[in-house]
Amino acid sequence: MEFFLDTANLDEIRKAQAQGLMDGVTTNPTLLSREGGDWRRQAQTICNEVDGPVSLEVVGTTAEEMVREAEDLATFGDNVVIKVPITSEGLIATKALYKKGVKTNVTLVFSPLQALLAAKAGATYVSPFVGRLDGISIDGMELISQIRTIFDNYEFPAKILVASIRNPLHVLDSALIGADVATIPFSVISDLAKHPLTDKGLEQFNADWEKLTK
Ligand code: E4P
Repeated sequence: MEFFLDTANLDEIRKAQAQGLMDGVTTNPTLLSREGGDWRRQAQTICNEVDGPVSLEVVGTTAEEMVREAEDLATFGDNVVIKVPITSEGLIATKALYKKGVKTNVTLVFSPLQALLAAKAGATYVSPFVGRLDGISIDGMELISQIRTIFDNYEFPAKILVASIRNPLHVLDSALIGADVATIPFSVISDLAKHPLTDKGLEQFNADWEKLTK
């Protein structure tokens, strides 16, 4: 299972990359706007520094606009993946980009049928948003199980990229279900290795070692 970092923040990217925990990055317009400044410069630096796929999102509403934007975004680097919303126009754009050999990440997926359509259109990644579903009392992880079943039934090559992750349990459940990728906020990725019994055990080992060697 791959871990992507869900951020446009360079400090977070550099820290996660140094820890060897990051296989790629996903951004979106909100994450880039949080960083402020020149978004092109920010996106270019991210693409240069990240050793792995970087998702950059189109904002156009017609397929034509999306494909045009994708051509521009693709100039940021060979690792760019074009993030396209799951709309009718987005599906047309996804198919057109697939035919050109451009990798896509179909985003804002909230139902198994949307995921099926994205896979049929040739999406490289399909991004179901689990946290936002949980937020309206719909089980986000159930959606991941349903998509896993559909993709396996028909051997779709599209990768399930679990998005809108809020906590380590989302990551664990994604792994148990067999999702291909989880895109994780930095705060959650930092919590994955933590366990109170690890801290307690380490404290005990250190105290005992000190007694032995004093
Ligand atoms: C993923 O690609 C999305 O950008 C992201 O996971 C959205 O999550 P949010 O619900 O935290 O905005």
